[in-house]
Amino acid sequence: WATSAHIHENFLQCLSHQVPNSNSFSKVIYTPHNSSYASILQSFIRNLRFTTPVTPKPLVIITPLQEAHIQAAIYCAKEHGMNFRVRSGGHDYEGLSYVSYEVPFVIVDLVYFQSITIDVENSTAWVQAGATIGQLYYRIAEKSKTLGFSAGVCPTVGVGGHFSGGGYGMMSRKYGIAADNIIDARLIDVNGRIHDRKSMGEDLFWAIRGGGGASFGVILAWHIKLVPVPKIVTVFTVNRTLEQNATKLVHRWQYVADKVDDNLLLRLFLRRVNSSTEDGRRTIQASFVSLFLGGVDTLVQLMQESFPELGLVREDCIEMSWIDSILYFADLSGEPLDVLLNRNTSVADYYFKGKSDYATEPISEEGLNRIWKELIAAPIETFEFLFSPFGGRISEISATETPFPHRSGTLYNLHYALVWEEKGSSEFNRHITWIRRFYSFMAPFVSMSPRSAYLNYRDLDLGVNNKGNTSYGQASIWGLKYFGVNFERLAHVKTMVDPGNFFKNEQSIPIL
Ligand code: FDA
Repeated sequence: WATSAHIHENFLQCLSHQVPNSNSFSKVIYTPHNSSYASILQSFIRNLRFTTPVTPKPLVIITPLQEAHIQAAIYCAKEHGMNFRVRSGGHDYEGLSYVSYEVPFVIVDLVYFQSITIDVENSTAWVQAGATIGQLYYRIAEKSKTLGFSAGVCPTVGVGGHFSGGGYGMMSRKYGIAADNIIDARLIDVNGRIHDRKSMGEDLFWAIRGGGGASFGVILAWHIKLVPVPKIVTVFTVNRTLEQNATKLVHRWQYVADKVDDNLLLRLFLRRVNSSTEDGRRTIQASFVSLFLGGVDTLVQLMQESFPELGLVREDCIEMSWIDSILYFADLSGEPLDVLLNRNTSVADYYFKGKSDYATEPISEEGLNRIWKELIAAPIETFEFLFSPFGGRISEISATETPFPHRSGTLYNLHYALVWEEKGSSEFNRHITWIRRFYSFMAPFVSMSPRSAYLNYRDLDLGVNNKGNTSYGQASIWGLKYFGVNFERLAHVKTMVDPGNFFKNEQSIPIL
């Protein structure tokens, strides 16, 4: 602690030298002695796994008001051997934006970098990294009924982490992921220099669109291309249990969902429920949750041609504006639109662990039956299994265009999410053991060599960096899963822009 206290003092002094005479700066620097330190730290933690007494805590939190504050934080952290974390929305599945297992560390929280400027005429926007996708969607809809953006579903996700890790959502089959629609960015590098696309160069600009921002610098803002949306879109949710033919429907879905008209995205949620039969035994419910960029008549006809087995009828469908569909998919239907501006709606009161896979071949009916058996017998209460279809625009883009390699040949992404509320290490072990076993069980059904994973569903079980420097070979264990053929280029870019490996975390890109 003596060393920490020493570093702490020197770090704080360094900050005050870097931004002299700044009353405002001193007000946004929080140490454990400040009464608001704990609430600032907790404010955007979405997962109780990272709020325990043994979770490492930062020595200092900074909520910068200006770019100069971030430049000072980078300079002083480097000078005084502090690890550095940057947080935008705080949704990282492994808490890497606010937990460092190498201490001491500082968090730069971009909560005051939330400005959004919409340019309707050119169909573009500048959005600062600390804004959420909900705020972005709201600001777009405020200006235009026929523009939108292709990114995730949960409104409180931050654009800083989300866009730099990919960003899949209900319009991704039509327009690609968020990272595919970035046209410029502002970033502070390891030397405190501020860049735009031109000055950072195409290699670094490539790396931050899917390679994760945290390995390369602090992203200040994105310049994005907005996408056209019709005035009326149609949504539906159709639920079917095993007793209602779910196995055949899920099996068929795998042949349809990546090939159907790009205007339609048919997402599939699988949950365990009690069946409505008299014995109330456990069953699996498949929910087909969908967005169609058009009206109900065209949708019903399209579904009759491409997926008649689902039996979709007009009564299942609701026509609405694109922005209302954002509320619908976030389970916020009926709320006033400005709920999208509220960053605190999903502050967690549960423990969460997620994992991911990609399917390149359909799973046979026999395989699905084996999976159902496993899920029905699972000794845990709440899990969700989500299949997100690819195809369309995502698959037209080449695997090397951005670091996100899951393109042509990918049928769908699989997401395994486990949620629990009970405290304690035995509950923790019970849940984590189960999800790890289930992940092993799924191996024969999903992509292999490499067994791919989605960076935005970060999973430290795939492998972590050493405390010192990690070799490219060691990091390849997890790096090839997230980035495939792009991992080597990411390591080259990293070596070029941050040769001292200042921007490091448990799964940052290694230097060569
Ligand atoms: P957070 O602030 O935790 O950052 C995540 C990572 O990015 C960290 O490593 C962090 O250091 C780094 N980072 C953040 N800001 C940065 C910056 N300005 N510069 C450099 N690095 C920065 N995904 C998806 O594709 N579609 C979806 O629909 C959803 N939905 C969803 C719902 C919920 C409830 C959760 C918890 C997560 C999702 N996700 C998702 C996953 C989400 O995309 C992923 O967790 C993002 O990284 C979150 O970005 P945040 O900025 O919120 O996280």
